Amino acid sequence: MDVRKLLHMKEGVGQNSYANNSSVQSNVTAYAKSSIEENIKEGYHALGPKCFMMADTGCSSGPNTLSVVSEAINVIDEACRSLQCKVPEFGVFLNDLPGNDFNTLFKFLPSFYKWVAEEKGSNFGPCFVSGTPRSFHERVFPCNFLHFVFSGYALHWLSQESRAREIVPGGSMVLTFLGSIQSTDPHSLHELLGFTLHDMASEDMIEEEKLDKFNIPLYSATVEEVRQLVENEGSFLINKLEIFTIDWSVRMMEDSNHQAKFLVDSIRAVFESLLADAFSEAIIDDLFVRFETKIQKHIAAGQPIEYLNILASMTKKT
Ligand SMILES: C[S@@+](CC[C@H](N)C(=O)[O-])C[C@H]1O[C@@H](n2cnc3c(N)ncnc32)[C@H](O)[C@@H]1O
Repeated sequence: MDVRKLLHMKEGVGQNSYANNSSVQSNVTAYAKSSIEENIKEGYHALGPKCFMMADTGCSSGPNTLSVVSEAINVIDEACRSLQCKVPEFGVFLNDLPGNDFNTLFKFLPSFYKWVAEEKGSNFGPCFVSGTPRSFHERVFPCNFLHFVFSGYALHWLSQESRAREIVPGGSMVLTFLGSIQSTDPHSLHELLGFTLHDMASEDMIEEEKLDKFNIPLYSATVEEVRQLVENEGSFLINKLEIFTIDWSVRMMEDSNHQAKFLVDSIRAVFESLLADAFSEAIIDDLFVRFETKIQKHIAAGQPIEYLNILASMTKKT
């Protein structure tokens, strides 16, 4: 399975779209907010570039994408006000796989530019936003090009990220991704999805052979594995590396049916493309109805549905 060709979050802005079902990822980014602000502020103070270059790797398509960019603009605007200096230009690169719904993402741009003009004035920036459709496993940017890289909930689709050459010395990264205490720990939701697929195979609704071959190519590293990776690579100083749990809003909703629906919609928006390719489009609705029932039972039995996440903030050595 070539994930780079098959994986894409559910496109558009409809009911099942990623844009409409990404509040979990938004909560994870909210957790990283102070690190994002600190890194951008420190990087800007130290480097004072005329054009601040930033990238969102694994940006997907939805409201989360431009919220990080807006935050970066606010931080630099504030820094420039306190330093009484001219605001830089901004180069913003939205990176994802070529199958990502960049068309929908670009349709958010006019309102983003309007926000910049209204909030910051027509002389602000300017801010140049562009898409860079390419796997972040490969080189995406020129050497010593970026001042800040954000990657929200995308790096668990691989086990290493090598942006070192593309970031200027003194530039930084803030990354969030799925983590684990032991990298062999199963994730409860993925396990329940697996059980659902097994049920369907035992009822001959999907082929056993296809199920045996199917694999969700996610890797949840431990904090120690990430630390080792960063230290062995050698280009970055770690500012913060911590594991945290996110609220899947399960406790905020009283009705377990609503909780289950919320979880299913979040998972479906991410995994539908891979599942449809592996087992056919025709089984998708049935699969997610069954999955929802499994989650309802899981919640009713008082089982927790919590994911561990890693926040990594690091600055490139000068
Ligand atoms: C769960 S979404 C997170 C999107 C967004 N950052 C957010 O916080 O809402 C993960 C994104 O990573 C992208 N992705 C996964 N592997 C990638 C790769 N090798 N190169 C570029 N993007 C990738 C996926 O296509 C998807 O859009």
